[in-house]
Amino acid sequence: MKFFIDTADIAEIRDLAETGLVDGITTNPSLVAKSGRDFFEVLKEICEVVPGPVSAEVTATDFENMLSEGHALAKLADNIAVKVPLTVDGLKTCKALSDDGIKVNVTLCFSAAQAILAAKAGAAFISPFVGRLDDTGADGLQLIAEIVEIYNAYPEFQTEVLVASVRHVGHVIESAKMGADVATIPPAVLRAMYKHPLTDKGLDAFLADWAKTGQSILGKDERRSA
Ligand code: E4P
Repeated sequence: MKFFIDTADIAEIRDLAETGLVDGITTNPSLVAKSGRDFFEVLKEICEVVPGPVSAEVTATDFENMLSEGHALAKLADNIAVKVPLTVDGLKTCKALSDDGIKVNVTLCFSAAQAILAAKAGAAFISPFVGRLDDTGADGLQLIAEIVEIYNAYPEFQTEVLVASVRHVGHVIESAKMGADVATIPPAVLRAMYKHPLTDKGLDAFLADWAKTGQSILGKDERRSA
């Protein structure tokens, strides 16, 4: 499963990219607004830090302008994936950009029917929003299961299932079990994935026992300060 990070915060991106676990980034207009940065400037910077796909969302709602915005965004860097909403005009734009060899991430997907349309329009990624569906009382993960099942039945669909609106570690685990291709994870959720109380407890015990031996693996001059 690929891990994208769902943020436009460059400091977070730099920090998490150092783990070597980050395969891409997703942004949306709300995340760019939250960063307080210039849209083009921050996207360019993110693309330099992370070599994988970086989603940048169009803000026009009609086909002609979405297409022009998509081309403008794609010029920013080779690893830009243009994000379009799941509307009629959005899918027309998806088809046109995909035919031009530009990766498209179709966002705001809330049904299996919408996911089928996005695959037929040649999307590189479909972004079903699990958290926002959960918020309505529906089961967001059930949608992931349906889309994975449908896409698996049609090998000609090249669209990757990108689990979006992830709110907790359980969303990542369950969608990994279903075989989703990508999860776009908020920084705090990725950090929470490392955590288990038994890891902390076990490490404390190992270190305490090791200290009793009085030994060290590295010599004094070999050790760096943490
Ligand atoms: C990512 O592509 C989506 O825009 C994002 O995951 C939405 O998350 P939210 O529902 O927490 O805003």
